[in-house]
This record gives sequence, C-alpha cells and structure tokens, in this order.
Amino acid sequence: MDDKPAVRIITIDGPTASGKGTIASEVARKLGFHYLDSGALFRLAALSCLTQKVDLTDEAACSGVTRQMRPCFKDGKVFLGDKAVTDAIREEAVGLAASRVATMASVRTAILDLERDFCRAPGLVADGRDMGTVVFPNACLKVFLTAGAQVRAQRRYKQLIQRGISANLADLARDLQERDKRDRERAVSPTRPAPDARLLDSSDQTIEQTVRCVLDWYCALES
Ligand code: DC
Repeated sequence: MDDKPAVRIITIDGPTASGKGTIASEVARKLGFHYLDSGALFRLAALSCLTQKVDLTDEAACSGVTRQMRPCFKDGKVFLGDKAVTDAIREEAVGLAASRVATMASVRTAILDLERDFCRAPGLVADGRDMGTVVFPNACLKVFLTAGAQVRAQRRYKQLIQRGISANLADLARDLQERDKRDRERAVSPTRPAPDARLLDSSDQTIEQTVRCVLDWYCALES
C-alpha cells in the first residue's frame, strides 16, 4: 500500500532576499506543482493596512483588515479585490510594513487559512519564513535557504534596478538587516530552520545550481 500523502509539499524558508521566490517558483514549474509566495500575503496585509491608514501598532485593527482582505493571484499578477497591486506590494516600504504586521499573532492566524488553501494536488512548493516549522510541518522536503548579507543586498539592488526602481545599496543593506532581525527575533513563528530542514547556502551558486540541488534532494526522497 502507498502511504505517501496525496499532496507533496516542499517548503523553502529563509531570510529576506535569499532567493527563495526565484528558486521555489522554478522548482514548482519543473515539477508541475502549485506555488505559494507567503510573503506576498503578508505584503498584501501590510498594503491593506497602509491604504486604510491603520495604525501599524494596533494589532486588533491590523488583523481585522487582514481578515477582510480578498487576495487573488492570477497569471502572475496579484489583486486585492479587483485592484491590481502586483508592483505596489514589492515596494520596500510595504516589505518593511509587512515585517511589522507579521509580528502579530492574530494577523498570522488570519493568514494561515489563506496559506493552507494553496495546498492542492499534485503538490505545492511554499516559500516564506515559517513554512516548514508552522504552516506545513508535514512537508516531505524542507529547505532553509541562506546567502551572505552582502550578496542578498546586491541581489535585491539588482532586482529593483532591473524593474526601473531607483535604489541605494547601503540603505537597502540596512533595511534588510532591520527586517531580518525583526523576523528572526519575533515571538511568533520566527524565521528559523525546522529541525528536519536541509540548509542550503546559495551565496556562490547560480540559480540553476540551487534549483538542481533542491530537485535532486526531492527526487532522492521519491525514489
Ligand atoms: O519574503 P518577503 O520579503 O516578501 O516577506 C515580507 C515580510 O513578510 C517579511 O519581512 C516577513 C513576513 N513573512 C513572514 O513573517 N512569514 C512568512 N511566511 C512570509 C513572510
């Protein structure tokens, strides 16, 4: 009898700009799995709070707004209700606000159901901070992806410049550090590897090498 769960789940957690999104979406594409960018849900919550001018220290107000938001992901685009917010949620100010609302337990609870809704056959690749520890503890493969602080700042800088958004490397490095510290040190679901996660340092690897490594780990488990 086959006792494998019907939906195969791979989690990829790690700090800001470690390349999780790029690697996770490519692994999902290669395997024909669904993809969850959980950071986008926190960014959507933050954008909703900013738009509605909610005080980001008021947990009840932030979780109320989060429970009411109706996000939709379609053809690589992101919508809040019928408003396209694909670019707006990528702004650094929204990322920083996301890191703040993500410290609130009731905001995380409101987002948990949205995250678990992505779990559909044949499989899911989920990226975030607590995918392997809290959201999908039964995942068959858990990866914790890191890269040196300088490498991550440079990658984020390149990404922004390519999108035509002006950026300053020193400011970016400082913002990433601030965000990582808050994500790592918060009381609820901090960024950390699950005890059964495999650590992967991508500092000196190409995207292809990192994707290959995750696929090799997955295929070895399945064989
Ligand atoms: O991965 P990202 O930069 O898009 O995430 C934005 C913020 O959301 C990040 O600073 C922390 C938070 N986040 C989280 O707390 N848990 C997740 N699973 C994903 C993101």
